[in-house]
Amino acid sequence: VILTTESVGTRLARVRGHTKAAGVDTLVVTHLPNIQYLTGFAGTAGAVVLGPDRCVLLVDSRYVTAAAALTASLGRLIAMETFEHSYDEAIIDVLRRDGSERAGIEAAYLPVSRFHGLAAAGAALVVPTERIVEQSRVIKDGLEIATIREAGRRLARVAAEAPGLVREGRTERDIAWDLEAAMRAEGFSKPAFETIVASGPNSALPHARPTGRKLNRGELTVLDFGGVYDGYCVDLSRTVQLGAPADSQARLFEAVREAQDAAIRTVRPRLRASAIDAAARTVLERHGLGAAFGHGTGHGLGLEVHEEPRISRPSPRIVDPVLEPGMVFTIEPGAYVPGIGGVRIEDDVLVTEDGCEVLTR
Ligand code: GLY
Ligand code: MN
Ligand code: MN
Repeated sequence: VILTTESVGTRLARVRGHTKAAGVDTLVVTHLPNIQYLTGFAGTAGAVVLGPDRCVLLVDSRYVTAAAALTASLGRLIAMETFEHSYDEAIIDVLRRDGSERAGIEAAYLPVSRFHGLAAAGAALVVPTERIVEQSRVIKDGLEIATIREAGRRLARVAAEAPGLVREGRTERDIAWDLEAAMRAEGFSKPAFETIVASGPNSALPHARPTGRKLNRGELTVLDFGGVYDGYCVDLSRTVQLGAPADSQARLFEAVREAQDAAIRTVRPRLRASAIDAAARTVLERHGLGAAFGHGTGHGLGLEVHEEPRISRPSPRIVDPVLEPGMVFTIEPGAYVPGIGGVRIEDDVLVTEDGCEVLTR
């Protein structure tokens, strides 16, 4: 995604608001997807020091040319700087020079040793903060929605080819490679995670790795694949049966399909995320499959393949998010029964004003 000056300006303003609300004057951003969100910079290292008046993108010598072109294209919103010694020394220099008094770090991502090093320098009081950029990322903006929508269309086309790849005698790995090749042919830059092809008994393992096992008739096979398209992740699962299903397999499939339908029909703004999980879980429980569904119903998608919001059972220690238009997440109930096999069906949805749009039909 080529970010516009307008979109970066809006993102910086929103995140500055959250920074101030967290009681710090400056935010030191070290989580790479957060750096990418704020600046468009997608290197393998970097840091952002976001103060009330200045936003500094720090890059090492490998990225100076690319980052200078990027920041020049964004007018005066972001200043690019580089350094001689280390990222942390450069962060300390910026904090001191720009007169920060209280600087927040991203506690979920900064190693403890780096936190201690930054705090010990005494340039500013350095305090742990959480979810400052993520609060903004969870609601996708227009550029992001357009990108994810296109990614979803492309991934759905790969899914349409999938049944043709599942044939007797082929191995799980053969199929995984074909799915990855099909994603590349659809314009994805890389898989968003290790592709899952789980056949027969392996299908009852929710997160199996593809093996050299050959597929047989009468077996369920779970295909779970996703790709990164123009920086954004989409994620989809289908379950395929070779030959006629046994009654037990057909019942498992129908129960999961019904659970997924119920969850998708429940999505609308102002509802708690756990209500979506409950919609799927209630159906599976009614089919006697409550214990066969161990994982959550879904997860947010964006620059990362697993991000906010979590769509799962409410927990006393984790905030249950309220759904808002612009959130994008998966709906992926499954049921895993050793001796029968496993089924998972996963699609990606965008929350709209009055429900949701399925992005991976
Ligand atoms: N395979 C990762 C996921 O579906 O979340
Ligand atoms: Mn998946
Ligand atoms: Mn998923």
